[in-house]
Amino acid sequence: MAENTYLIRGAAILGGEAQDLLIHDGVIAARGTDLSEEGATVIDGKGLVALPGMVDVHTHLREPGREDAETVETGTRAAALGGFTAVHAMANSNPVADTAGVVEQVHSLGRASGWVDVRPVGAVTVGLAGEQLAELGAMADSRAQVRMFSDDGMCVHDPVLMRRALEYVKAFDGVVAQHAQEPRLTAGAQMNEGTVSAVLGLTGWPAVAEESIIARDVLLTQHVGSRLHVCHVSTAGSVEIVRWAKARGINVTAEVTPHHLLLTDELVRSYDPVYKVNPPLRTDADVQALREGLADGTIDVIGTDHAPHPSEHKECEWAQAAMGMTGLETALSVVQETMIETGLMTWADFARVTSFTPAAIGRVADQGRPLEVGEPANVILVDPAARWTVDPHKMATMGRNSPFKGRELPGSVVATFFKGHPTVLDGRLNTPYKHPAVSSN
Ligand code: DOR
Repeated sequence: MAENTYLIRGAAILGGEAQDLLIHDGVIAARGTDLSEEGATVIDGKGLVALPGMVDVHTHLREPGREDAETVETGTRAAALGGFTAVHAMANSNPVADTAGVVEQVHSLGRASGWVDVRPVGAVTVGLAGEQLAELGAMADSRAQVRMFSDDGMCVHDPVLMRRALEYVKAFDGVVAQHAQEPRLTAGAQMNEGTVSAVLGLTGWPAVAEESIIARDVLLTQHVGSRLHVCHVSTAGSVEIVRWAKARGINVTAEVTPHHLLLTDELVRSYDPVYKVNPPLRTDADVQALREGLADGTIDVIGTDHAPHPSEHKECEWAQAAMGMTGLETALSVVQETMIETGLMTWADFARVTSFTPAAIGRVADQGRPLEVGEPANVILVDPAARWTVDPHKMATMGRNSPFKGRELPGSVVATFFKGHPTVLDGRLNTPYKHPAVSSN
C-alpha cells in the first residue's frame, strides 16, 4: 500500500468500543480489531476518541476584503487544528458574498488552501442592507453550490423580505440562517440587558430582541413551508420558542456557540472588549437553558461564530470595540467541558451536534458521515485526557480575540484527516490536501 494508507490502532469510535480504522485512498477501507498494518502508517489510537470531522455552520473567514483580520488560508488552518473538516464561510466579507462571483471566489480559495471544505454562505440581501433580495438562485447554481443564505451580523428584519427569501430557497433545497436581532430594540446596545448592564450603565440588549424575531420567523417558515436555521441562540426564551416550533413540526434548526455555553455577562464587569460579542453574553440561567436545549435536541448544532478581528479593533475602549470572538481552535474543548464533563452529552452526541447534523443542515456532501467502511475519511482523533492553556498567540487564526485566553481547557485534537489526508498530526499542522486539478463541476 502507498503513503496514503493510515492505520489508526485502537481508538474509541465515537467514544464507544476501541477498534482499528484503516484509511486508504480517501475512504475508510476497513474497521475492526487486529487489522493488518502492512504498508500503512500506524497511528496509536490508545486512549483517543475517533470522531467524524467537525462541520462548522458559522465561520467568518473575512476574505475577500478583510485580510487584515483573517484569510481563507489562516482561518482554515485554524479550522483543521480545531478538528474541523468543513466550514461555512459567512457572507459579511467586503465585497459581501451576494453574487455568484464572490461565492465562487471564496469556494476557489478554499480549494486552493486544502485544509477543509469551504462552503460559502450567500447573503440574503444585497450588501446585507436588508432592502433587496440578493441573487440567491445564481449563487445556488454557481460552482459554489450555495445552500445556506444569511445576512449574519445583520438581521433580515423586514418580514416581507424574510418571507420572500424563505419561499425562494425552497426551489433549491436551501435554508435561510437568520441572525435574530430586532434592530430597533437593540439600537446602541453594548451588552446583555440585565443587572450587570444596569450597574455598569451600558445600554442593554434585551432578550426579547432575539426572541421576537425567532417567534416571527418560525411562524413565517410554517406559513410558507420552508426551512429556517437560527444562528447563535443565546437566551432561555429562544430555546423555549424553538422547542415550541419543533413540537408543531416546523422545519427549524438552531445553533449555539461554545462561548454562550460557558461565559456570562458577569465578565463584562472587566470592561475587557474580548467579551464583547453579538449576540451578547447572557446570564447563568440562559447558559443553563442553552446546555439543556443542546442536550435534549432542541438546539441542533454547535456553530462557532468564529469572528476574528485585528487587535486595534478589540484592544480599545468597550464602546468602540468590534463585536466577536475567535472560536475554531477552542470549540471542541469548550463543548467537552460544558457538555461532556458535566454528563449532559456523550461523544456520540458530540458527533451529532458537531458533524452529522451540521453537514445535513448545510447539505454538505461527503461530510458528517458515520465512521463506516466505504465512507469518506473525514475523521479526527481527540485526546480527552489532555489539558492545555489557551494562548491566542500560539493559534493559527490571525485573531487574538479569544475569550478563553489564559484558561485551562480539557481535550485536544491529535489528528485531523480530510479526505483521507492527515492535515493535522501530533496536534500540529501537517500538509494540506491537494484537490485534483480539474474541478468535478
Ligand atoms: O459578534 C459577532 N461578530 N457577531 C456577529 O453576528 C458577526 C460577527 C462578526 O462578523 O464579527
